[in-house]
Amino acid sequence: MDQNELKKAAGKRAVSFVREGKVLGVGTGSTVDFFIDALAESGIRVPACVSSSVRSTAHLEKLGFKVVDPNEVEGIEVYVDGADQIDPGFCMIKGGGGALTREKILASLAREYVCIADASKRVPVLGSFPLPVEVIPMAVGVVSRTLRSLGGNPVLRDFTTDNGCKILDVAGLRITDPVKLESEINQIPGVVTVGLFAHRGADVLLLATEEGVKELRPARG
Ligand code: 5RP
Repeated sequence: MDQNELKKAAGKRAVSFVREGKVLGVGTGSTVDFFIDALAESGIRVPACVSSSVRSTAHLEKLGFKVVDPNEVEGIEVYVDGADQIDPGFCMIKGGGGALTREKILASLAREYVCIADASKRVPVLGSFPLPVEVIPMAVGVVSRTLRSLGGNPVLRDFTTDNGCKILDVAGLRITDPVKLESEINQIPGVVTVGLFAHRGADVLLLATEEGVKELRPARG
């Protein structure tokens, strides 16, 4: 199976986690696009969705889903989103699609975070995928220098986020303590969001492999 077929399988499986009658959180990316298509095909009815990007909102509305502002909801029952990398503790690198800030807000509202991914996303240690950091435009220089002092190699992405900000993709990191690094980068003035989801990682991973979609949960303890 190619990577798209695996992404499609993960997206399809996530439909079984959607609670009919409850507000649904929807992430961003190609795996999520497959999830949205599968949800529409399933006929499951949700009263409303909250979305993490202009892209996902457009996709959802095109298929007839109601999308509301997160300020209109007190919580989200289930949040379905992809990842760029996920480690054994279910900490993630996210933001390859540039939607990391809204994704982190929705993750914080969610009772259950369901990560959907193809097998290539599972890694023993995060960092071989460059870590996205959303930055206020006037702080790109100073934040880049600070990230370099932490051992990273930041590269400015030719992209503006839905929030009007820039993204630095930080290569060269080997992230053995994602919780600590998330806190550290969040403290840098000018950083809007770091694409490390460690303080609030995923609760469930639907990992699409050649042998089928595996439903995995992190070992707690
Ligand atoms: C977007 C994200 C995506 O979840 C991540 O980039 C994975 O994307 P894809 O499903 O296209 O591989 O974090 O900001």
